[in-house]
Amino acid sequence: MTGLYDSFQRPINYLRISVTDRCNLRCIYCMPADGVQLTSHRDILTYEEIYTIARAAAELGINKVRLTGGEPLVRSRLTELVQMLAQIDAIDDISLTTNGTLLGRYAAELKQAGLKRVNISLDTLKSGKFKFITRGSLNLDDVLEGIKVARSVGLNPVKLNMVVMFGINDDELLDFAAKTINEEWHVRFIEFMPIAGVCTTASYFVSVSDMRKRLELLGKLEPCLPSVGNGPAKYFRFPHARGTIGFITPVSEHFCFHCNRLRLTADGRLRPCLLADDEVDLKQPLRGGISSAGLKQLIESAVADKPLRHHLAEGYVPKDRPMTQVGG
Ligand code: 5AD
Ligand code: SF4
Repeated sequence: MTGLYDSFQRPINYLRISVTDRCNLRCIYCMPADGVQLTSHRDILTYEEIYTIARAAAELGINKVRLTGGEPLVRSRLTELVQMLAQIDAIDDISLTTNGTLLGRYAAELKQAGLKRVNISLDTLKSGKFKFITRGSLNLDDVLEGIKVARSVGLNPVKLNMVVMFGINDDELLDFAAKTINEEWHVRFIEFMPIAGVCTTASYFVSVSDMRKRLELLGKLEPCLPSVGNGPAKYFRFPHARGTIGFITPVSEHFCFHCNRLRLTADGRLRPCLLADDEVDLKQPLRGGISSAGLKQLIESAVADKPLRHHLAEGYVPKDRPMTQVGG
């Protein structure tokens, strides 16, 4: 067998790279109210170090990478990293998850550097509520502008991720869904996950089956294939709709048996599972001059440690890091 396989024979071909733990927003589902302890710059991997890890991972079988954060676009010169990763032959898909606020400024150069597509967090269409959810000084209009520019430069399909929260934005489910009918909106509704230090009570949780019941007021949802990607979402569309609706059920129906991913944290640890605290440090070995073969062995050991599934439903919540350090 060529490629990377974990101990449950799952093929691992996807690396999510968090390039920073900093963010220009403080979303209520992601960050604690008083922010998080930020990692100092010297503890964050340099672009050269990220490139070295990505190249070793690509030689083992990784062919897709996604840049995440915090907010990846707050790190300076991100375009240069995209250019470097685009030079790795085996990597044929480079994507970005962003809050969209800086995308209007950078979308064109990112596209030119080799970025294929973007996922943008969009949890509300109301500007007052945007301020409440993001606890920030930035505006919904910045995100809407980012979406527009991303589409116009061809970072398609632009996927919009909404974390659905009871009593916060669940009243907008139908507004988002309606956008997929007349416009080419690809919306993904995500179940709220209780994450360390943020909101571990389940009070925000809305299940996908509840969302679906509410959406069927607009019409029957027909299953369809994703336009690109092979992530955890299940896709549907309303009859004759131009866009699609995806559902992501990390809580009510885990998709771990199809998990194909590894995560690299901004401070250089490989994390086999988003929802388990185990990590393999790559930064110290890299800075200590480890060989390429040694690095590959460490990557393989992280893959071998990948747990079969998470245990959110049984009440196990990762404790060591908030989501903002792992990149969703
Ligand atoms: N529950 C579900 N999704 C989350 N994300 C961050 N925190 C949570 C959470 N508690 C995901 C969202 C967001 C991206 C940056 O990470 O999809 O858009
Ligand atoms: Fe920032 Fe994204 Fe977390 Fe919001 S969800 S605080 S935009 S990293």
